[in-house]
Amino acid sequence: LWQLLPRDKSQPPLVWHWIPVLGSAPAYGRDPVAFFRECREKYGNVFSFILLGRRVTVTLGPQGNDFVLGGKHTQLAAEDVYSPLTTPIFGKDVVYDCPNEKLMEQKRFVKVSLTIEKFRAYVGMIEDEVKDYLNSDPAFRVWQMNDINEWGSFNVLKTFSEITILTASRTLQGREIRESLTKDYAQVYSDLDHGFTPLHWMVPGLPLPSYRRRDAAHAKMSSFYQSILRNRREHPEQNQEDDVMSSLMKQRYRDGTSIPDHEIAHILIALLMAGQHTSSSSLAWTMLHLADRPDIQEALYKEQIQHFGTPDGGLRDVTYDEIRELKVLDAVVRETLRMHPPIHSIMRKAHTDIPVPATLGTPSEDKVFVVPKGDIVLASPLISQLDPTVWENSETWEPARWYDEKGVAAQANRAYDEGQKVDFGFGLVSKGTISPYLPFGAGRHRCIGEQFAYLQISTVILALIRRMEFRLEGEFPQPDYSSMMVQPMPCKIHYRRRKFD
Ligand code: HEM
Repeated sequence: LWQLLPRDKSQPPLVWHWIPVLGSAPAYGRDPVAFFRECREKYGNVFSFILLGRRVTVTLGPQGNDFVLGGKHTQLAAEDVYSPLTTPIFGKDVVYDCPNEKLMEQKRFVKVSLTIEKFRAYVGMIEDEVKDYLNSDPAFRVWQMNDINEWGSFNVLKTFSEITILTASRTLQGREIRESLTKDYAQVYSDLDHGFTPLHWMVPGLPLPSYRRRDAAHAKMSSFYQSILRNRREHPEQNQEDDVMSSLMKQRYRDGTSIPDHEIAHILIALLMAGQHTSSSSLAWTMLHLADRPDIQEALYKEQIQHFGTPDGGLRDVTYDEIRELKVLDAVVRETLRMHPPIHSIMRKAHTDIPVPATLGTPSEDKVFVVPKGDIVLASPLISQLDPTVWENSETWEPARWYDEKGVAAQANRAYDEGQKVDFGFGLVSKGTISPYLPFGAGRHRCIGEQFAYLQISTVILALIRRMEFRLEGEFPQPDYSSMMVQPMPCKIHYRRRKFD
């Protein structure tokens, strides 16, 4: 009933709800896109809703993205929101369990570890991992039998989750971690991963087995990484690795101190976990769309023949620099991330009262609201990435919009006021915080894994498309919003060996 009482008109309108504390959690949790769209119809681009006792203010559209992602760190803090979820998984003293300035230094450490030279080496490693997977996983029995007429099928979520962790471990995590992945480490990883859920985020520290298993898994994983670090230090002659761990071992904070072992361990765990669901769900969606669109599969295959075809009708290995030239492949990844950015809500906590700029524009009035101190603010690039006023046929997966000059130009013109620039260059998709397309976020918390993720996803797709054809049976799967990242509902893709003419 308190919702009927006169309220402070300077605050954004509050979404009506029946059950106090629970608030709009069921509608938001079930389908955030439908919920945000419905609220935008009623209230405009700025509104607040109650999420399990917390007030969340949503700011939609490119300017809404800018308000949250471009906000000053002293006013809008990410760590207050994310830390209850990430600290038990990543560990102490890294990412959101340290002052923001320290996170910025840690991000710099990782960036300098991810050089172009390393990316060049990763392509072959990723390709090898995919080949080994196809040759050994039981779901690819039909592939292993070498029969070009028979169709087999695989479970999409399982397959891409496994391919992602295998390829990320082999490349980013280093030899020792990759070697241990098939043994006890797989269970530890799975226990840690089960702590990555909305429940563990919203209600931290419940006395439930999954919380205990998560904490035990973190302790085990952290000490495993630290034992590798000790071993590398004690036996430098046997450990000439040139990987992210070795790079972190050499770097120093601005005050001259080296990175303690537990922090190196936790940075590596953070990289593994931050990249896992994001990349695996992106791979899953990409392959589902390809299975649904034989014409684009064909275009991808032709692109490979054009660039890598050999005189005997085969396909040679690809290099990192060559992958960057593949327009159709690049467009396929971009378009998937437009329709299915794995992170649908980007959140910060307001440390002060913050006026919402009038430029955010609500349909009915041009009013400035004040987001009160203590609110969570939320941007959802997913909404602007599906906005029909920005993207033609916004609900259709159409990679051509990215390589058809007219298509991109038309979108850019509609998306931006005159004079504003759009950077759709490879891997660096619109750097600014005012943009309708931000699958990797923007501003100080922008993703550091973007280039790696593009490389990983592109190389896996290349490796699959050159070997097999894919098709879907039945309806295209709906998004499942109940997990942390937007992934498809459980489903299968059918495959068969590609026939070479
Ligand atoms: C942050 C998306 C892959 C590491 C972010 C953010 C987004 C994002 C939207 C910003 C979150 C925010 O502002 O609150 C994605 C997508 C990926 C991907 C779509 C794949 C398709 C990766 C990979 C890694 C990674 C592979 C590691 C190698 C991180 C880290 C942050 C981050 C450490 C936190 C940065 C910070 O808070 O300052 N990612 N990511 N991501 N990402 Fe990614």
